[in-house]
Amino acid sequence: MPDPAPCRRFALDPTCDIGHPDIMQFETIILGAGAAGMMCATRTGGRTVVLDHAKAPGEKIRISGGGRCNFTNMYAGPENFLSENPHFCKSALSRYTQWDFIDLVSRHSIAYHEKTLGQLFCDNSAKDIISMLRSEMQKAGAELRLETSIQKVSHDGARFVVETEQYGKHQTLKSQNLVLATGGKSIPKMGATGLSYDIARNFGLNILPTRAGLVPFTFRDERFKPLAGTALPVHATANGTRFEEAMLFTHRGLSGPSILQISSYWNEGQPIQINLLPDADPFTALRDKRKTEGRRNTATVLRQLLPGRLADFLADEWALTGNLADQSDKALQQLADRLTHWELTPSGTEGYRTAEVTLGGIDTDALSSKTMEAKSVPGLYAIGEAVDVTGWLGGFNFQWAWSSGWAAGTAI
Ligand code: FDA
Repeated sequence: MPDPAPCRRFALDPTCDIGHPDIMQFETIILGAGAAGMMCATRTGGRTVVLDHAKAPGEKIRISGGGRCNFTNMYAGPENFLSENPHFCKSALSRYTQWDFIDLVSRHSIAYHEKTLGQLFCDNSAKDIISMLRSEMQKAGAELRLETSIQKVSHDGARFVVETEQYGKHQTLKSQNLVLATGGKSIPKMGATGLSYDIARNFGLNILPTRAGLVPFTFRDERFKPLAGTALPVHATANGTRFEEAMLFTHRGLSGPSILQISSYWNEGQPIQINLLPDADPFTALRDKRKTEGRRNTATVLRQLLPGRLADFLADEWALTGNLADQSDKALQQLADRLTHWELTPSGTEGYRTAEVTLGGIDTDALSSKTMEAKSVPGLYAIGEAVDVTGWLGGFNFQWAWSSGWAAGTAI
């Protein structure tokens, strides 16, 4: 798109900067070329520029889903999201649904498959999703500026003013609309910053406390180190919310889908509960085995119910001694209860270093749920992970990025 015509007033009025060679005018400036920012840029009319300090757009898309991007979930709905206001996400999710995104993916002939639980992945590569968004942005006429650092953001009374630096060159950009789409704080090594929170705060928007979500738990004494690599299906519960997926022991603690899911519901200091035998009735199983294998050591019998290393670890931890025949019904019930209600208190999480998402962020109370525009600052929008809407593991976070990006882009 050509630059706007120079302002005829400029020569007479030095405060009018239209046509000023060092100031570029846009209708919309989007900060962040991630999932939400790129989707937004495919929809905005008028002159749009997307700014990002990274070398490439959509870096989290590229590494997501083991390089195949779990780009949405067939069963996505408001109940799969955490937010201070659980109703806020409803409008955007219902106006741009998973089926709309699947339709876009199909129109770009990107092959995909369902892995499990409605989670859709690219057959080939996550890069297909990035190419698709880039091509849609191009079609919409949006400009992409990478390796651009955002130095200052303000408002001059008429327009937003964004001071940038690219390859050592300073430039001032002005626009009617400003979209905050720089995501959360997760994985700072990949360039995550709290920029959107800082800008929103400067414009008077409330920021809710942030913390790492979808993140492994750590335990102070590295007590699970000998079990590292052991995985099993469990029911994991934190704060009354339960997920039924796999759990993985790591050198530092616990991970795997069920653990990542409950980490978003966990508060520091609280215990979590693990049902290690969700598909069995361990009391009946142990009592039956007492009849047929009563002379076996209790720890040995446990090895028939659980992965060997875990069975040995628990036998040691719970000081299980004697043969199965020596165990009373009460003792077997106690053991069964321990297996189905294993209570552990993590010392913490791996934090933003490995977290897939950031909980909290820009308070939804400050935004219109239909357009994502700040109620108190016309022209200011916030989308994606920067907003206090966080999805479960399984394609939900990208769906929020697509839906909120679409809502803002369409409104602009
Ligand atoms: P996103 O983080 O994608 O983009 C923000 C952009 O802003 C980045 O390009 C960044 O460089 C830029 N930026 C940040 N600070 C800046 C600054 N100061 N100046 C300029 N630019 C700045 N979700 C899902 O649904 N399915 C999945 O498979 C996965 N997998 C996954 C794996 C891993 C390892 C992680 C870390 C995360 C996931 N996620 C996921 C979560 C998902 O990646 C995340 O929720 C979305 O990318 C959020 O989209 P946004 O556009 O809001 O932020």
